[in-house]
Amino acid sequence: MLRRSARAALTAVVASVAALALSFGGLAVPFVAPATATDLPCATTPTPKAVLPATSPSLRDLAAPRGLRIGSALAPNPLRTEARYRETAARELSILTPENQLKWATVHPQRDVYDFCAADQLASFAAKTGMTMRGHTLAWHNQNPAWLTDTAFSRTEMLQILHDHIAAVVGHYRTAFPGLVTQWDVVNEAVTDCGGTAPCPLRSTVWSQRIGPDYLDYAFRYAREADPAAKLYYNDYAIERPGRKLNGVLAQVDAMRARGVPVDGVGLQFHIGAYSAPSAADIAAAMTAVTSRGLDVAVTELDVAVGITGANATASQNQLGTQAAVYRRVLDGCLANARCTTFVVWGFTDAQTWLSPDQPCLFDKGYAPKVAYDALRDRLLDGTGERAGEVVVRQAEDSGHSGGGSVSNGWSLNTTGAAVYDDVALAGSTAYLASVLLRGTLAGGAWPLVEVRVDNVLAGTIEVNSMEWAPYDVPFSAPAGVHRVTVTFTNDYYNGDEDRNAVVDAVTVTTAAIEAEAMHVRTTGAPVPGGWALYANGNVANAWSIPATAQYAVRVVARGTPSNGTWPVLEATMDGVLVGRVNVKTWDWSTLTLTVPLTAGPHLLAFAFTNDTATPQDRNLFLDKVTIVATPAA
Ligand code: G3I
Repeated sequence: MLRRSARAALTAVVASVAALALSFGGLAVPFVAPATATDLPCATTPTPKAVLPATSPSLRDLAAPRGLRIGSALAPNPLRTEARYRETAARELSILTPENQLKWATVHPQRDVYDFCAADQLASFAAKTGMTMRGHTLAWHNQNPAWLTDTAFSRTEMLQILHDHIAAVVGHYRTAFPGLVTQWDVVNEAVTDCGGTAPCPLRSTVWSQRIGPDYLDYAFRYAREADPAAKLYYNDYAIERPGRKLNGVLAQVDAMRARGVPVDGVGLQFHIGAYSAPSAADIAAAMTAVTSRGLDVAVTELDVAVGITGANATASQNQLGTQAAVYRRVLDGCLANARCTTFVVWGFTDAQTWLSPDQPCLFDKGYAPKVAYDALRDRLLDGTGERAGEVVVRQAEDSGHSGGGSVSNGWSLNTTGAAVYDDVALAGSTAYLASVLLRGTLAGGAWPLVEVRVDNVLAGTIEVNSMEWAPYDVPFSAPAGVHRVTVTFTNDYYNGDEDRNAVVDAVTVTTAAIEAEAMHVRTTGAPVPGGWALYANGNVANAWSIPATAQYAVRVVARGTPSNGTWPVLEATMDGVLVGRVNVKTWDWSTLTLTVPLTAGPHLLAFAFTNDTATPQDRNLFLDKVTIVATPAA
């Protein structure tokens, strides 16, 4: 990066030799010609290549089919000097935000001087690599130049200054890089953090003090005037969950829109901690609060701090896994909302983050992808084959394990009681199947026992009898709403080590019905037209491969004959165990449904007529087709 003095000198030279005298709002403003990264003198330090294999799909490519742009805040210095930074950004990102370069202190260092040098390097990089750009930011209380903050400008002067700045900065990008800047954070962090329950009010800033609370209106109107095509955002932190600050922001936005002020969206910054992050339900509620008003919502500055304070500290598995879960949760929230099409992280590598020495990013300091990166990639990959009605849980808010081996693609539950959980939003059916991908370690002659709970109610216990990843299905019922699915390891065998641990990977909650192939019952008896007659407690049976453990709707087409006022009773058994029973009260062929629990795997299903009387054939039952359907038990 050019030092301030060098940049000022360059600015002066370029301004005097090649300046364009452009007129903004009646003021003649010396204008620094746009420069590209290659125009600028810079030292290039040879650095190793980026560490991601070229064959693995990038976030950018995976996000594109969903209409989602994945981006990051970038800075020009590492872009010039660090090949891995440049290559990783170019490969993974489809939108960038200048981290500091469009803030007033940098882009407008003196009242009559604009310096687009640093921001233009980023804009050039974005243009060359097929990215778009978010402009950040046009009115903020931080990083303002002394000439602005230290002079007692009148309201009229401040409005003129604000107008000219927005016209110059937005106008520059509209002219020099047409179509590149698709979104502007017009006003940033204007609402204060507050206690109590009322919506938080406006923050007292240089803008509110000298112009008044209507400075937001002016900023948005000036921005629309400068670029009618760009989406105009209000951007803030700590509004990623319902609460008084979000209410304060929405109150401002509502009032502005009622006055006809052009606000297109709200940016949720998402500077969050791995262990204090908003829940999935909170994220969904915050996003919906914005979009239900007809606004766009964007994730604008996501980073997930894990609490590292030492420069050389290594993140634990727990920290990395928890961080990954939070990244994924935010992406889930964005993907679930049709008006969230921008997902921007605030720095993509722990080597370049404003939170250093914390390690809040997707890539580590050596530019290796972290588990958080895998979580986003896997979520985007999952999505390609995702079925409606399916929610994938792959979150470990608190795996609770201590020490013990690292796992790839999962969370190790090493001690009794260790659990992973996540909140899942279920759409409306009442029956679900939680398919838990697990592997375990046999110790002391026993396999790990894992419990699956939904809202703390036991849904099923799994004996993890495989050292390889295998799915275990647990059916449960739940009404529409958000539910907590928890996977707990209950029988650690402590032998000086965590030697009967279980490892949990994805938990897939399926709401879609699994339609099994219809079956004609095979019988040892002679078939009758349209069915088989079951006389004298006779039965028919068939081997059946049940695809998954669940409640099934077993539909039988049957008819019967009453005797002494009593109709036949049909019973269904699985491997000799009674699973369902129904009265057959019809002379005519009818479809009857038995709701029965069936277990995954090959089973003998038998249908028996159990209440025949001694008189032959006086209460006989005819059975035709049997269809078995895994279904939400309505
Ligand atoms: O300008 C000096 C520069 O001359 C010097 O070389 C350098 C040495 O450290 O310091 C420079 O200023 C720093 C600047 O970043 C550029 O690196 C400031 O001291 C430092 O305070 C500033 O921090 C930025 C911060 O905004 C300021 O509030 C962070 O980089 C930037 O990531 C952060 O971004 C904000 C968003 O704009 C709004 N939302 C919150 C987010 C995080 O705070």
